[in-house]
Amino acid sequence: MFADRVLSGMRPTGSLHLGHYHGVLKNWVQMQHEHECLFFVADWHALTTHYDTPQIIEQNVWDMVVDWLAAGVDPAQATLFIQSRVPEHAELHLLLSMITPLGWLERVPTYKDQQEKLSEKDLSTYGFLGYPLLQSADILIYRATHVPVGEDQVPHVEFTREIARRFNHIYGREPGFEEKAKAATKKLGGKKAKLYDELRVRFQEQGDSEALESAKSLLDEQQSLSYGDRERLFGYLEGGGKMILSEPQAMLTAASKMPGLDGQKMSKSYNNTITLREDEASVTKKIRTMPTDPARIRRTDVGNPDKCPVWQLHLVYSGEQTKQWAMQGCKSAGIGCIECKQPVIDAVLAEQRPMRERAQLYLDDPSLVRNIIADGCEKARKLASETMRDVREAMGLSYG
Ligand code: TRP
Ligand code: SF4
Repeated sequence: MFADRVLSGMRPTGSLHLGHYHGVLKNWVQMQHEHECLFFVADWHALTTHYDTPQIIEQNVWDMVVDWLAAGVDPAQATLFIQSRVPEHAELHLLLSMITPLGWLERVPTYKDQQEKLSEKDLSTYGFLGYPLLQSADILIYRATHVPVGEDQVPHVEFTREIARRFNHIYGREPGFEEKAKAATKKLGGKKAKLYDELRVRFQEQGDSEALESAKSLLDEQQSLSYGDRERLFGYLEGGGKMILSEPQAMLTAASKMPGLDGQKMSKSYNNTITLREDEASVTKKIRTMPTDPARIRRTDVGNPDKCPVWQLHLVYSGEQTKQWAMQGCKSAGIGCIECKQPVIDAVLAEQRPMRERAQLYLDDPSLVRNIIADGCEKARKLASETMRDVREAMGLSYG
């Protein structure tokens, strides 16, 4: 299987639009062939800001999954699930909250930013403060190695790494760790035990990273070691304890340059979107009525594509030839704006056609979607419960 495990979540707070498709979903579709992928609906995260409009969340959960499937996310390749159907996320969130300093949460940049941005809502809640920690639980519970996120979410992944480190630091050293690590070293056998010790000391005293690598490959070759002993020896090597939670890496997805109908970034709050499965007539109408270069009042006026939002869409959707045609036609008043818009309309419709078709399948038989999610939740719970077993044990909660 894959060595990497990719995990990402999306909050179900509104219909997905072409900005989500170009910015996130295309990337998910690509990654599902290259990595083990888990994608989930972050419905609890949506409640942190939309606690007073539960109907919005309810309505958007299933629509969003259909949008994912429509965009080409393939349930045979990726695991799709809903956060609240894997209650282990909540348990890990609670347990991690025991070791999370308040100051760390207050310092996460999105905390104050979002409070200010959404000032019409009262976000001085316990749940909202804990948003990044819930996200950490989402990530750590699957021991995800990579988390594809936009730039605004990078601090959350960084925060997650710090939580993992703190957890391992506090709980990774089981009682008698040194003795157990020494006993495990002996099990390597005389020569290898000696080599391991030399390499360990060389790394710890001189920071020799080659020694660290050699020691790691030495351990990798030891097939007879138990899982616990292996982990101990890896931990002992770097001076820390056992790695119970692993640190994920942010995978920065190229920020979507998807322009909206008015030339600003496409966003629900600017009311300038085309939704993923919008019907053809509406897409056509929206693009036909898009504003163009304001200086081009009459058909005979020359225009400047740099001042026109339609040109931004040509940059996303058109090939070189079409772009040339539009650029020259605009600057020379050789074409009219309606003419100029037609290839963009055609390209958007062509992009959406397979999406609408795929979606129809699921709209005709909603039980397909329910089953996909039920399967995904089951798989996710299995993975989550493995981590929870280790976490409970480390925190002294595995009784009898
Ligand atoms: N906070 C993310 C966002 O607003 C959504 C999210 C929740 C998430 N949990 C996650 C993303 C875990 C990646 C990994 O976009
Ligand atoms: Fe915009 Fe095209 Fe009209 Fe020029 S011709 S103003 S690029 S729509």
